[in-house]
Amino acid sequence: MATPPFLIVAIDGGAASGKSSSSRTLSERFHLLHVDTGSFYRAITAEMLRRGVGAGDLPAVRQTLAELRFGTRLTGRSAEMEIDGRVAGDEIRSREVNDHVSHYAAIPDLRAALVSYQRGLADFGRAHGFRGLVMEGRDIGSAIFPDADCRFFLHAEAGERERRRAGQGLHDQIRERDRIDSSRKTSPLTCPSGAVSIDTTHVSLDQVVEQMAAAVAAQLAPA
Ligand code: DC
Repeated sequence: MATPPFLIVAIDGGAASGKSSSSRTLSERFHLLHVDTGSFYRAITAEMLRRGVGAGDLPAVRQTLAELRFGTRLTGRSAEMEIDGRVAGDEIRSREVNDHVSHYAAIPDLRAALVSYQRGLADFGRAHGFRGLVMEGRDIGSAIFPDADCRFFLHAEAGERERRRAGQGLHDQIRERDRIDSSRKTSPLTCPSGAVSIDTTHVSLDQVVEQMAAAVAAQLAPA
């Protein structure tokens, strides 16, 4: 019997653009493995800070990357990254990590270490019986899965995104992170050509999700 197709859904966008809520909803609705790649960059950042390894100290960053052992744990429908057998906790949403993560994420060696790890999660999802995966980040549709079945790029006005973060009680330098994430040399935040671009400033999350769900359902429907 032929192996059923494994659907790949890529969702990219800036901070607080609606990626997390929409990808979680799609994961639940279509039984897709949910992957929040921002949490991977955050977990590595927290570990580097814990070890006192600055983003400007490239040899030390490289040395630390060589020492870290990455694994994956399934929590609900989400793939969480283990570093040396441990999944990071709330510290990855701290102000310190918010302030530093874009600087670490701009390091090509660090990104390279995550590319094969992230692609390998498709096998992890298959092995756990999912119909596909929905991966959210900044470079999923451009660099990680450029041939994804569905590619979305979410964006919203900065003021609205700041209001969303403040509503969650979080301090986040959204504009500054977006500036660094969009201007770095390796895999910058950008709308990849061919992706469906959705402005979420004035539409409800439900409307955004329905638009995305229709595209996903069309891919899953038998030809
Ligand atoms: O999605 P987030 O705000 O939790 O992501 C945190 C940071 O991680 C973001 O500012 C840039 C980086 N990141 C990245 O460079 N590439 C990704 N695929 C995901 C996140």
